[in-house]
Amino acid sequence: MTMPEQDIQTILHAASQQLTQCGLTDSPKLDAELLLCHALNVSRTYLFTWSDKIPEAKQLKKFPPLLEQRIKGHPIAHILGTREFWGLPLTVTQDTLIPRPDTETLVEVTLNLLQQQISPPPPIKPLNSTTLLDLGTGTGAIALALKSEHPQLSITAVDQSINALSVAQQNAKNLQLTIQFLQSNWLSAFKTPQQTFDYIVSNPPYIEESDPHLTQGDVRFEPLSALTSGKDGLNDIRTIAQHAKSHLNSQGWLLIEHGYNQADAVADIFNANGLINTQLKRDLAGNPRVTLGQKP
Ligand SMILES: C[S@@+](CC[C@H](N)C(=O)[O-])C[C@H]1O[C@@H](n2cnc3c(N)ncnc32)[C@H](O)[C@@H]1O
Repeated sequence: MTMPEQDIQTILHAASQQLTQCGLTDSPKLDAELLLCHALNVSRTYLFTWSDKIPEAKQLKKFPPLLEQRIKGHPIAHILGTREFWGLPLTVTQDTLIPRPDTETLVEVTLNLLQQQISPPPPIKPLNSTTLLDLGTGTGAIALALKSEHPQLSITAVDQSINALSVAQQNAKNLQLTIQFLQSNWLSAFKTPQQTFDYIVSNPPYIEESDPHLTQGDVRFEPLSALTSGKDGLNDIRTIAQHAKSHLNSQGWLLIEHGYNQADAVADIFNANGLINTQLKRDLAGNPRVTLGQKP
């Protein structure tokens, strides 16, 4: 595909129309802008400020192949190789889930608990002796967001996928944040009673394996092992909740992200596994998103 000499706004308009015609109707304008920024190596502000500028042919040559990939359905995060989460730029590959804005709810709820922990003077427990475990870390999104807010926390993050772990490690290095990474099938790498935590957080796979959405949009390009969890989507949440209590300190919290329609089932699982003070938190759209429970 070659492009005639056009200014930035004309290029963007044409690309956005092309994406729409190909059925990519969620955010065609934004997609076109992000791809053009990547090709020209400029910010979005540059695109708006210099919308009547004609880009150099050498740089513009990079744009059509990027647009082609998007038209084939590849997620923007995979094409650009990066996605922002909690304001942090994270490398994303085909081995990792693309971090979702919904997951920022889990970060917020955890930060609120940490705030309550340190609010009464003296704090219930200071942050520099507080331990937190992120199960199924993927790109490292949750662990890195929490560490960026509270560098004093001692954070361990695990994933079953060695490829995901190496992406998470690279992200930690790029952001100069120290996390202890470990390959583990959920909690199996940790011995009890020696290795226990004050907080265990997780955004595990929770989609039903027959969910028709798995054959649509960006998720087609994400690893199935990061998305699905058995017939009802709850297998991994059951496993985590079953083992969490033996890996939590007394008064420690388990916080799990789940689907909007799984809140009652997850609360039952928490209660059946001896967790108390079970609570549900909603995301910004008002959907049930995170359940938390405490070890007595
Ligand atoms: C929904 S993704 C979440 C990724 C990341 N925490 C986030 O929020 O963007 C679930 C993650 O759990 C990992 N996972 C799946 N099964 C696992 C297991 N048995 N033990 C550890 N991690 C597992 C996947 O590799 C994937 O990275």
